[in-house]
Amino acid sequence: MPHTQTALIIDDERDIRELLVMTLGRMGLAVDTAADIASAERQLASKRYDLCFTDMRLPDGSGQQIIELIAQRHPELPVAMITAHGNVDAAVQALKAGAFDFVSKPVDLNVLRQLVQNALQLGEQQRAQAQHSANKLLGNSEAMARLRETLAKVARSQAQVYISGESGTGKELAARLIHEQGPRASGNFVPVNCGAIPSELMESEFFGHKKGSFTGAQADKEGLFQAADGGTLFLDEVAELPLHMQVKLLRVIQERTVRPVGAAKEVPIDVRILSATHKNLAQLVQDGRFRHDLYYRINVIELAMPPLRDRPEDIAVLADAILRRLAGQAGTAPARLAADAIEALRRYRFPGNVRELENILERAVAFSEGDAIHADDLHLPGANSGHAITAIPAEGETLQPVIATPAPGSQADPANVSLPSGEALPDFIENLEREAIMKALESCRYNKTKTAEKLGITFRALRYKLKKLGID
Ligand SMILES: Nc1ncnc2c1ncn2[C@@H]1O[C@H](COP(=O)(O)OP(=O)(O)OP(=O)(O)O)[C@@H](O)[C@H]1O
Ligand SMILES: [Mg+2]
Repeated sequence: MPHTQTALIIDDERDIRELLVMTLGRMGLAVDTAADIASAERQLASKRYDLCFTDMRLPDGSGQQIIELIAQRHPELPVAMITAHGNVDAAVQALKAGAFDFVSKPVDLNVLRQLVQNALQLGEQQRAQAQHSANKLLGNSEAMARLRETLAKVARSQAQVYISGESGTGKELAARLIHEQGPRASGNFVPVNCGAIPSELMESEFFGHKKGSFTGAQADKEGLFQAADGGTLFLDEVAELPLHMQVKLLRVIQERTVRPVGAAKEVPIDVRILSATHKNLAQLVQDGRFRHDLYYRINVIELAMPPLRDRPEDIAVLADAILRRLAGQAGTAPARLAADAIEALRRYRFPGNVRELENILERAVAFSEGDAIHADDLHLPGANSGHAITAIPAEGETLQPVIATPAPGSQADPANVSLPSGEALPDFIENLEREAIMKALESCRYNKTKTAEKLGITFRALRYKLKKLGID
C-alpha cells in the first residue's frame, strides 16, 4: 500500500496556509496546518510528517524555533522556511539551523513544487538509509563522525584492531562493519566470545581437532580459525582468554598457521583478527593478567567507542532508529518520544550505553499508553517517578574538552567590546556570543551542564549555540 505523504504547514496567515494546502494537496500530499508554535509542537509530537513548512514570524515565537525543535526531535523531517522576500539573513539562519531550504514570499508555485519534490526525495533517501541502520554506526555527534571515518580507513587495511569501550557501546557492531567494509567482506565474519568457552575445550574450538585426538573427538572438527579463513575472526571479551591460550594465539598470529589438536601438520590460515573487551586491557597487562606481547600484536590500532553519556546529541537518532525497528517487528507505527522523554534521556548516564537505550525503549513501548512515550514511561533508574530528573552528571565528571584553543579575540571582555566599523551586526552579535560562551566554558572546565547554568540558558540552547557557532 503506497503511503500517503503528509506535510505540516505552520503559518499564521490564512492565505498562505490555503495556498500551500492546495498546491501540496494537488501533489498528492495530505496536509495539516498550524497557526502558531504551540499547536505545531503538539502536532509534531502526535504524528509523523514527511515534510514541514514554517513561516518566519509566528504569534508565539519564530520559525527558527520550529527548525531548532525539528533538528532536535525529528532530525529526519525535512523542514523549509517561508521567508519574506529578500530576507537573505533569515534564510541563511534557517539553513544553518538545519532547514533544508527556504521559499520566499510571494510564493512561486513552480519553485514550491520543485522544492516539495526534492524534500520528499530527501526523506526517502534518509528512510532508505535508516533501513540499513542495522549495519550502521548511527549518531550525529562529532565523536561518531570521526569514528566512522577511522573505521572506514581501518577497514581497508589488514591491521589487527582492538576495539575498546564500555559495555553496549557498539564494539561488536564496529567489528562487523570493519569486516563488511573491507576486502574480506566476501569471507566469513566469525565472532567468538572468549569468556564462554571452557578452558579445556579452547584449543580444539580455536584450532580444530582430529578424530580420536581426545575422548569425545568422534570426527575431525574444524576450528574457529579455519572457519574464518579468508575472513575475520572477532575475539570478543579477549581479556577472558586464559594465559595458556594467549601464548598459543600469539604463535598463530606470528606464524599464520594453526595446528589442529592431534594433527601432525600445521595448516596455513589467512585470518584478520579483531578483538574487543569492555575491560581495561592495558591495566590487565600491567597486572600481569594479559600478555604484553599479545596485547602488542592485537592492538595495532585501537578503536575507542565513546560512551553514550558523552554524546547526548546521538540519542534522538538512535532512539528513532530503535523505535522504527521495534515498530517494524511489531508491525505497528513507530512510537514517538515526547520532548520530556528526550530531555530525560539526554541527562541519563547510560551505564549500559546503546544496548541500555534499546532496553529502555523496548520496555517503554510496552508500557506506554497512547502513541507518545513520556519521561515517566522510561522508568529511568535514579529518576523519581515525578518529573524531577536526578540523573545529572556526577560531580567532577566533565564532558570531553572539545575546544583546544580559544577563538581569536576571546581575551576581550564581551562587556566592553565596541562595534568595530565594517562588521555587520549579526557577525558582531555572533562574536559576542562566542566570546561569552568560550569564557563560560573555560571557567566551567568545559562542563556543558554547568556552562549552560552559568549563562542562564538551557543545556539544549547551549548545544544549539555551540553547533551554530561552530565551536566543537
Ligand atoms: N552507533 C550505533 N548505531 C546503531 N546501533 C548501535 C550503535 N552502537 C550500538 N548499537 C547497537 O547497540 C547494541 C549493542 O551493541 P554491541 O553489541 O555492538 O555492543 P558491545 O560494545 O559489543 O557491548 P558488550 O560490551 O556488552 O558486548 C546492538 O544492538 C547494536 O546494534
Ligand atoms: Mg559485545
